[in-house]
Amino acid sequence: MPMLKLPGLIDPHVHVREPGQTHKEDWDTATQAALAGGVTMILAMPNTKPPIFDAATLDLALDAAKSKARCDYGQFLGAGPDNADIAASLSGKSAGLKMYLDSTFGELRLDDMTLWGPHFINFPKSVPIVLHAESRTMAAGILFAALYDRPVHIAHISLKEEVLLIKAAKERGIKVTCEVCPHHLFLTADSPLPEGEGLGVRVNGRREVRPRLATQEDVEALWQNMDVIDCFATDHAPHTLEEKDSDNPPPGFPGLETLLPLLLTAVYNGRLTLDNIIQKSVVNPRKIFNLPEQPETWIEVDEGAEYEIRAVDQYSKCGWTPFEGWQVKGRVRRVVLRGREAYRDGKILVETGYGRNVRAEERT
Ligand code: DOR
Ligand code: ZN
Repeated sequence: MPMLKLPGLIDPHVHVREPGQTHKEDWDTATQAALAGGVTMILAMPNTKPPIFDAATLDLALDAAKSKARCDYGQFLGAGPDNADIAASLSGKSAGLKMYLDSTFGELRLDDMTLWGPHFINFPKSVPIVLHAESRTMAAGILFAALYDRPVHIAHISLKEEVLLIKAAKERGIKVTCEVCPHHLFLTADSPLPEGEGLGVRVNGRREVRPRLATQEDVEALWQNMDVIDCFATDHAPHTLEEKDSDNPPPGFPGLETLLPLLLTAVYNGRLTLDNIIQKSVVNPRKIFNLPEQPETWIEVDEGAEYEIRAVDQYSKCGWTPFEGWQVKGRVRRVVLRGREAYRDGKILVETGYGRNVRAEERT
């Protein structure tokens, strides 16, 4: 059977949940989910418990990753109200700096613009600052990039006004890049989604995600401006079903294991090209975040295999997916990571600790 061979994918936006919330996910399960999805490198977000914002908390995350990760990884630092100097001094050990300019899950948030400047000034320009900044906040973040002449990467864009803003900023030479998540490309606020049981009229927590699912017009604008989008990223944000179906559902969707099948199905339907996937899931993230090559690393995909997405087949601990029941075409069969067979036909074949920190000393 002919296999499609692709480079290992890089996902620059993953919530691993360790330290602190390992009932949702941990370095072992997140990296198993990654490998099963054809992702050989993940960059982990800092809104853990505690958040990653200084040397001690960075060590907490990196120690857990070192012993448990099965694929390669980097760890973002979080920008807090008073850690601009510390974050800059730790930059070489981190994937980059994440700034939460809008409210979302976790404690890291910087609403006051006087808190942004020190980070824009201090953090080295060799890697971008990643912004969670929606709508008009995004415009403010891009202005800061222009004022301080430094690269910013906008996480998970979802709106027409956002993709048009980024297009205009790029045309004027502002150093801005962006990513889009599969759920903002394939779902709208009106899509039928799996519902929790016995919920009555309450909000369906399984719909909750930040940025929120948008309108059909927004989704179409993202597809029409695919050339403005630099990266695909999952924003893999696992929460358990019990939490999603509770009275106070946290926002977030898992995504590592559905990324590639959804994208390949879009290729099959003529909406994307394979080169789009390679550019936005390998070449661009590597360039933007200054990530090392992974030698002898590839994935093999059975292009013709059709199957149904089912949460029970997933490695993520969270136990659900917003794409439950979707019919997709293109199955990851084999993943080879740095010369070792890491995944084959549903089985993870590398042990915990095989994953490498992309910013480890020996690599610089
Ligand atoms: O839906 C989201 N969930 N958006 C975010 O920005 C954070 C994430 C999480 O950590 O759960
Ligand atoms: Zn996120």
